[in-house]
Amino acid sequence: MCPPTHFEVTYSINPWMDPGKPVDLSLALAQWETLRDRYRALGHTVELLEPRADLPDMVYAANGATVVDGRVLGARFAHREREAEAAAHLEWFRANGFTEIHEPAHINEGEGDFAVTSTYILAGRGFRSSPLSHDEAQEFFGRPVIGLELVDPRYYHLDTALSVLDDETDEIMYYPGAFSPGSRAVLARLFPDALIAREADAAALGLNAVSDGRHVLLPQGAVGLFGPLRARDFEPVGVDLSELLKGGGSVKCCTQELRP
Ligand code: ARG
Repeated sequence: MCPPTHFEVTYSINPWMDPGKPVDLSLALAQWETLRDRYRALGHTVELLEPRADLPDMVYAANGATVVDGRVLGARFAHREREAEAAAHLEWFRANGFTEIHEPAHINEGEGDFAVTSTYILAGRGFRSSPLSHDEAQEFFGRPVIGLELVDPRYYHLDTALSVLDDETDEIMYYPGAFSPGSRAVLARLFPDALIAREADAAALGLNAVSDGRHVLLPQGAVGLFGPLRARDFEPVGVDLSELLKGGGSVKCCTQELRP
């Protein structure tokens, strides 16, 4: 995670971002700290990345890399405004003992567009990550990559439309409206038992969630997901990240998972 010390919305690279709308920085920090403390209280270790004043979107740490089996696929950002974040992440991995690091040839925005199940890596495209990054990830991780086409600009990253609930049983939840008809059919075929989110919960960024297989941390506004999650024996934990929503991100965007 990376604290939102320098968070602000000065440019717009997704429909959620409105530079005219004020951001309450101290509230953003407090909300982010609550999320960090929730992870710790659940027994998870949180590593921190040093924020940089010239990179206001750095709080969305999920985009900086993808780690599977301890192997690190670096990011390459679609927008110039975020380009320099990729190197900051790689620097952290090098300083923290990761040796299998691949600097990507193609644009990929880390876990924004890569979701990991036990069997597959699900990969978004259409707005940010290049379809070519899917082959690159498959080759580097040696896991089958399933490409999914995103079609609604509000759901510009895969992690705004789909979330892995259990990476052992391959349980996922997603909002079908974010995907092309073909990709919807692929998801229905691979995950016939998936939790299907409604539009209102997707619009509250409810799919931007992090699950440890039992607790699901998600934006608290996605009230329609709480019941269905409980019915599947998950424990939903609502988190208020209203300020970070103004940049187009929530729980998952703020969290990069280090899979050993
Ligand atoms: N403002 C950021 C952007 O548009 C938000 C990134 C959200 N991160 C995510 N994993 N979806 O790039």
